[in-house]
Amino acid sequence: MTDTLISVEELRTKLENKERIQVIDIRPLEEREEWKIPGSVHVDVYHQLKSGKEDVFSTMDFLKDETVVTVCAAGKTSLIAMEQLRKKGVKVYSLEGGMRSWTRAWNTAITEDKHLKIIQVRRTGKGCLSYIIGSDGEALVIDPSLDIEVYISIAKNNNWKITHVLDTHIHADHFSRAKRLATTVKAQLLMPPNTALQYPYEKIQDQQLISFGLTNIQAIATPGHTSDSFSYLLQEKYLFSGDTLFTKGVGRPDLKANTDQAKIKAGILYDSLQKILSLSKDIIVFPGHISEPVSFDGKTIANSLGNIIDTVPLLTLEKQLFVQALLANIPLTPPNYEKIVALNYKGDIKERELIGLEAGANRCAIS
Ligand SMILES: [Fe+2]
Repeated sequence: MTDTLISVEELRTKLENKERIQVIDIRPLEEREEWKIPGSVHVDVYHQLKSGKEDVFSTMDFLKDETVVTVCAAGKTSLIAMEQLRKKGVKVYSLEGGMRSWTRAWNTAITEDKHLKIIQVRRTGKGCLSYIIGSDGEALVIDPSLDIEVYISIAKNNNWKITHVLDTHIHADHFSRAKRLATTVKAQLLMPPNTALQYPYEKIQDQQLISFGLTNIQAIATPGHTSDSFSYLLQEKYLFSGDTLFTKGVGRPDLKANTDQAKIKAGILYDSLQKILSLSKDIIVFPGHISEPVSFDGKTIANSLGNIIDTVPLLTLEKQLFVQALLANIPLTPPNYEKIVALNYKGDIKERELIGLEAGANRCAIS
């Protein structure tokens, strides 16, 4: 923290530690509607600040001991807001790099079981959910989407050695850190087979059992969202479903596909979902994404398969209607997805080059 700036890492740590912080988002409403910092307050003063108006916060009151953080898209107009609030005597900082940098913010939620700890690592802005699962000193990571130091530090704090890293599919909304993480910590890198991948990896096979610590996880081929999608079943109890099944919807089948191909992929997704729906209804589904920014509430984003079936009407449709419904509800195409997929085939890019590419909300689901 400087006199005037707070970094993304500092702000996310304070929010995770439940420190009293008032985050004031000064972006225009349409930008905020796309994505926002959970718990932040919108004050619609962007254009006033840009036009040089003074004292735009004159009607707002702040508590004496409260720390305020101002946020805009790239961290420039928020500096003007910060200066105006300082004149009012408010203890205030501007978020360094704004929402553009906030794309890298994250928080965690923990699920504990006998001999097992599942840490859901949430990239809050994009709603990307990754997992580090520890058992008896070893850990397996699924879908790492953040700087690898995040996973390395979590493993270290839990006295785990990361022995396996795997992805549920080739991602289109974020750069997968799987290869980099596995290489750095010398773990086994397991990826869904895809001839476009340009680096060495071990091919995951349907029904394969992957052992770590005192437990194992089973790969289940669930194509549809992508042709290489897998889900992973841990101890017949927890299903890591990637972008095949979410708590409030299912994966989109249209990326890298024309309308006819999307129709075929939607049918394949239906068949894969039937495989999942045949599992015990008590299984807890841990998805690969959520469509809203993830709160700093420590609550795991997951639900029982039974509850998901009860709340997602798509899952009870017969095949033809399912395909029709899916194709009729395709969301906006995610920004930069072709570039991101190409990078994931390659497996290498510097962290700092990713900020602009990965910014914005997630658009992987259909509900
Ligand atoms: Fe995806």
